[in-house]
Amino acid sequence: MRYLVTGGIGFIGSRVAELLLDGGAEVCGADNLNHAYDVRLKEWRLARLQARPGFSFHRLDVRDAGAVNGLLERGFDAVINLAAMAGVRQSVAEPRAYIDANIVGVLNLLQGCRDYGIPKLVQASSSSVYGGGGRVYGAGGSPPFREDALTDRPLSPYAATKKASELLCHAYHYLNGTDVTVFRFFTVYGPAGRPDMMLFRVVQWIAEGRPVVVYGDGQQERNFTYVDDVARGVVAGLQPVGFEVINLGSRQAVKLMDAIALAERLLGKKARVEHRPSSPADAAFNPADIAKAREVLGWEPQVGLEEGLSRTVAWYLENREWARDLVTL
Ligand code: UGA
Repeated sequence: MRYLVTGGIGFIGSRVAELLLDGGAEVCGADNLNHAYDVRLKEWRLARLQARPGFSFHRLDVRDAGAVNGLLERGFDAVINLAAMAGVRQSVAEPRAYIDANIVGVLNLLQGCRDYGIPKLVQASSSSVYGGGGRVYGAGGSPPFREDALTDRPLSPYAATKKASELLCHAYHYLNGTDVTVFRFFTVYGPAGRPDMMLFRVVQWIAEGRPVVVYGDGQQERNFTYVDDVARGVVAGLQPVGFEVINLGSRQAVKLMDAIALAERLLGKKARVEHRPSSPADAAFNPADIAKAREVLGWEPQVGLEEGLSRTVAWYLENREWARDLVTL
């Protein structure tokens, strides 16, 4: 089998590519290697992938329809679209970049799948489409977030673009029969993770004795989900489903301050917490209902926060020489 993974050098994309290679597939990892966060992490992931037989790298910007077509015409069994601008709070400051990458990008891929007869697309969405989860807006969508809950009250341009990507996928499935699995990811973390995300920062900041910047009081909750669990779910999502939207999240809601306390314990060092004002784009919680992933794909998360965070800490300490300099704020 031959797969195209866009965002293939990204945090989730690179793990998905590795899993597919483990299974004997041929993988083209396409990525524009942008500067949304420190590119040294991307270079690290790329070097690992390039050492593997069956992998090829293609520099691609999904916003460029001509370039997308040029790649898709080579023929793939499926496209896994993990290319995106992914920061919830950052999207408030630069919404256009999010619209271009996350809406125009998926449109280009859907058109290409139609035009070059690619039967399957896996599309990345986000728990942020659940917005304030009903407590803010009243009707529907009360936690835990189930796939059929209200998702038309996003709190950020990012969440709005992810919802729009889901809608486009449905329209193209309906019109052209493209088989689409949409995954809503819940705050994914793990080794070589995104340095704009909290758990990566917490590990670096505590290890290096830097202040741990907490937006708000730190009582917000996240169903932090380990990257290998997510990658396994994405690969399972390659099977034909028609059109489905599926949560990939953990079972456990954890308060930010409790996650920081766990990192302190794993690193054997105290955190110096500094509170800053929270962003209105930030969700207070994202509790996941994951029954559908089990029913449709037989998927369940296997790595709890303690185990996942200890693997993240181990990765950091092994790579500390350069990881300590990664830009985190
Ligand atoms: C994350 C990802 O950034 C999104 O790409 C993804 O779509 C989303 O999860 C999802 O999967 O649903 P978020 O939940 O905001 O978004 O994850 P973090 O950036 O790790 O933030 C978690 C919490 O930590 C937030 O409440 C945030 O305000 C807080 N935070 C973050 C801090 O207190 N300090 C920081 O320096 C960074």
